[in-house]
Amino acid sequence: MQIRQLTPFIGSGITGVTFEDLQRPDVFGALHETLRQRELIVVRDLALTPEQQVVLARKIGRPVPFPDVRYGHPSFPEVTVMSNVVKGNKPVGAARAGNYWHQDSTFLTDPPAYSMLYGVDVPHTSGHTLYANACDVYDRLPDPWKTRIDGRTAVHSFAGHFIIGPEHAGLSVAELRDLIDIKHPSVEQPLVRCDAFTGRPYLYGCPEYLRTVNGFDANQNEEFCTLLDHLIQDPEHIYTHRWLPKDLMVWKTATTYHAATPVEPGVHRTVHRISIAAPS
Ligand SMILES: [Fe+2]
Repeated sequence: MQIRQLTPFIGSGITGVTFEDLQRPDVFGALHETLRQRELIVVRDLALTPEQQVVLARKIGRPVPFPDVRYGHPSFPEVTVMSNVVKGNKPVGAARAGNYWHQDSTFLTDPPAYSMLYGVDVPHTSGHTLYANACDVYDRLPDPWKTRIDGRTAVHSFAGHFIIGPEHAGLSVAELRDLIDIKHPSVEQPLVRCDAFTGRPYLYGCPEYLRTVNGFDANQNEEFCTLLDHLIQDPEHIYTHRWLPKDLMVWKTATTYHAATPVEPGVHRTVHRISIAAPS
């Protein structure tokens, strides 16, 4: 097994390993420690059945089935099929989500600790995934901002990404707002947290999900989110993952910002996703 850094800021690439190799404690231990220290790992050319993907996920933590059962794998409910393929007028998987910079599920009280994606049928020339390190984003905050946000909490919500469907026709704006609040209640999180494995401070929150930083007025919130966008999207600090079939990606959800990019028209893309809670 070879391990090398993908960028100085985030990610390690792992090659020359099979599912069988990963059953050895020393080999899996090296992969696991790399994930803990580098936030994101990319294992290239790893042949995996859905069952084997679940086995690997269980070695990291506790797989959490996706709430939308329509897109669960028929034999392995822990696996969510993410796909743009439509068969007989029915999508075979969930449409691609997360085409904006975010940390996974910060709008939940206790988001799963890891996300795992496996490339089943993926184009190499589009549909890339971009990654940035939230510890590195914190490090690059100007000192006055570090002081300003020290000890603050922030309100996160998925409300801005609620999709209004035909079933909501006839609702007033106030009724719709109440419904969204029930379906996607806001949660409060510390704005700066410390990673349990590296001990590094990191910024917890993305402009897409941040409703407000407690104690900031509207101008300060806007200024902060503009700065965050700028730091997260700095091309010098991003890893761009150009997918190949049989790529396995695993990242720590709290310390990893990421964004999906569009797939070129007419091209199929299917990945298998597992959300993994920290082992209890
Ligand atoms: Fe995501």
